[in-house]
Amino acid sequence: MITEPVMHKQWYEAAFGADYLERYSHRSEEEADGAVDLFLRRTRLAEGARVMDLCCGAGRHVFSFRRRGFPAVGLDLSMDLLRAARELPGARDVPPACLVRADKRWHPFPAETFHAVTHFFTAFGYFQEDAENYAVFDEVRRVLKPDGWYLFDFMSAPLVIAEFDGRDEIRSEESDGDVRIVSTRRLTDGGLRVEKHMEFLRDDRVFRELHERVRLFRPEDLLTALDARGFALAETWGDNDGGPWRGEHSPRWIALSKRRPTTSQEDTFA
Ligand SMILES: C[S@@+](CC[C@H](N)C(=O)[O-])C[C@H]1O[C@@H](n2cnc3c(N)ncnc32)[C@H](O)[C@@H]1O
Repeated sequence: MITEPVMHKQWYEAAFGADYLERYSHRSEEEADGAVDLFLRRTRLAEGARVMDLCCGAGRHVFSFRRRGFPAVGLDLSMDLLRAARELPGARDVPPACLVRADKRWHPFPAETFHAVTHFFTAFGYFQEDAENYAVFDEVRRVLKPDGWYLFDFMSAPLVIAEFDGRDEIRSEESDGDVRIVSTRRLTDGGLRVEKHMEFLRDDRVFRELHERVRLFRPEDLLTALDARGFALAETWGDNDGGPWRGEHSPRWIALSKRRPTTSQEDTFA
């Protein structure tokens, strides 16, 4: 008997549908405007500079850049989120080619295309192998011009670990109208990953589930990886307002760096 192979989706191929937008609706355009303003204040990006927002989701940062006159493009894997982006009012004047469906490991752009790449809101650490995760940095480097800016915005691993406070599971419940949402967060792989499972219930019946699984990279490891891949750190922030990084007291870990003309490995063999 010939059986069909069972094709399992990776969690990140299933998690970022229309449900995701509903669930994270507080991640608003207003928040995106604040993040883009901060980035532009700190980088003083020249007028007309080419920007790519990596893992752009429904395009909130892309449109924010475009409203400020930067010809930004967005790249994301989720067809649902890119479709949602095209339906936003800001999308009317945006050429369709500015919202691109692609994998973050392989960008469909020539080398040295962009003056800046932004990478907002924990769109990293989704792959099983660290080498695959870090391949994302290599690809960002490839498409950046020498001295181009890279903004990398990740969760604060020390804060996540502190929240567990020695436990390996945290359960919480909330209600939204007649919907009950039960969330379970777990530390897995010996504390290397945090997984979040959400069940949405109506009349005690689960009608939707969401699952996320992210590698808990320590800031020092991310800095080493960025450095080895040819990024020179300019600043780190601990929140979306550009406040200083204060370890487990900071909600985010945000690194602003510049692409060096050559990587340290290339220097070695020059
Ligand atoms: C946490 S969301 C952040 C979205 C957006 N940056 C924002 O702040 O609204 C992560 C995004 O990464 C995208 N993503 C996940 N895996 C991807 C992959 N392999 N290649 C490209 N995008 C991916 C998802 O579709 C989703 O839009």
